[in-house]
Amino acid sequence: MVYRLSELQLFSKLSSVTGNLGRNPPKNQKKAMKLIIKNLKAGTGGQEILKGVNLQIRPGEIHVLMGPNGSGKSTLAQVIAGHPSYKVDGGQLTVDGKDIGKLTPDKRARVGIFLGFQHPVEVPGVSVFNMLRRAKQAIGSSTTSRVLPRKALPPSQSVSGLTEIPSSAVPPSASPAKGHNLSRFRQELLEYASSLKLGEDFLRRSLNEGFSGGEKKRNEILQMMALAPKLVILDEIDSGLDIDGLKVVASAIEQFIAHSPQSSVILITHYARILKYLKPDFVHVMVDGKIVKSGKMNLAKKIEERGYNAWQTV
Ligand SMILES: Nc1ncnc2c1ncn2[C@@H]1O[C@H](COP(=O)(O)OP(=O)(O)OP(=O)(O)O)[C@@H](O)[C@H]1O
Ligand SMILES: [Mg+2]
Repeated sequence: MVYRLSELQLFSKLSSVTGNLGRNPPKNQKKAMKLIIKNLKAGTGGQEILKGVNLQIRPGEIHVLMGPNGSGKSTLAQVIAGHPSYKVDGGQLTVDGKDIGKLTPDKRARVGIFLGFQHPVEVPGVSVFNMLRRAKQAIGSSTTSRVLPRKALPPSQSVSGLTEIPSSAVPPSASPAKGHNLSRFRQELLEYASSLKLGEDFLRRSLNEGFSGGEKKRNEILQMMALAPKLVILDEIDSGLDIDGLKVVASAIEQFIAHSPQSSVILITHYARILKYLKPDFVHVMVDGKIVKSGKMNLAKKIEERGYNAWQTV
C-alpha cells in the first residue's frame, strides 16, 4: 500500500538521523559499523526470495551488488532496513555483534542504516526541507555532518529564499527550531542541493511528488548527505540518471565517503559505468536469492561483457 510505504519511508528516513548522534568528528571510531549477514533467508507472501545470503560489510568498505532482475537485491536491501513486508525465515543480521533482526525500521535507522530507494515514493504535503528539518529536530540539533567544504552561496540561494515553507506542510509533531540553527541547517541543505545541481526551490517541493526520475535519485543522495548514516544502501541510484547526473551523484557519494571514512556503502547496480567514479572494495553477484560470486572490480567488468549466464541454471 502506497500510503503505508510512504509513512514507513518517511519514518525510516527521519529516524535515521538519530543514528548520527555523536558522529562528529568523522574519524570517531564509534561511527564505525560492522554488518554481518549470515545465511539470511527471507520472503513475502509465502514466496522464498532470499535463500541464504552471506555478506560482511566492514567500516569504510564499498560493496557493489549486481545480479539479474528479480534475483533479490532490493529485497535484501529492504530486509536489512527492516521493511515489515518481508518475513525473515532464518539466518542472522548483526551490527557490531548485536542481532538487529528484531529491530523495527526506525530503530535500525537509529543504528545508522540508510536505504536510498530504487523507487522512492511520493509523500504529498511534506516538503523535502521539512522532512529533513523534522529529522534534525528529533535529535535536538539543526546541524548536519559536513559533507562538502563550506563555501558561500550565491545571493539567489541565500537562506532567506527558504522562509516561505507553508506551516501546513510541517508534520504535527515538528516544533519550531531555534532560528540560528535552523538557518545553518537551511544553508547546509542548500549547499548540498546546489552540489547536486538541484534548483533553489527544490527544498520546498513535496517529497518526490512530480519529481523526474533523476530528481528522485538526487533527492535520495541529498538525504544521505544530510543524514550522514553509517551504512548507506543505494538501490539503483544510477538508474534514470543522465550522464551529467551520474557524475554529480557519483561525485557526491565520493565526497561523502571521503568525509565519512568509517561509513560503508552497499551499491546495488546493473551497470559498471558508475564504478568509473566509485571504486568498490568488493563486487558480489546475486542470483536466485544467493550471492553466488564475490570478487573485485574485474568481476563487474566481466559481468558487463558476458552477463550472468555463468551462474544461471535456466
Ligand atoms: N513485496 C513483494 N511482494 C511480492 N513479491 C515480491 C515483493 N518483493 C519482491 N518480490 C519478488 O521477489 C523477487 C525479487 O525481487 P527484488 O525486487 O528483490 O529483485 P531485484 O534483484 O531487486 O530486481 P531488479 O534488478 O529488477 O530491481 C521478484 O520475483 C519479486 O517479484
Ligand atoms: Mg531491485
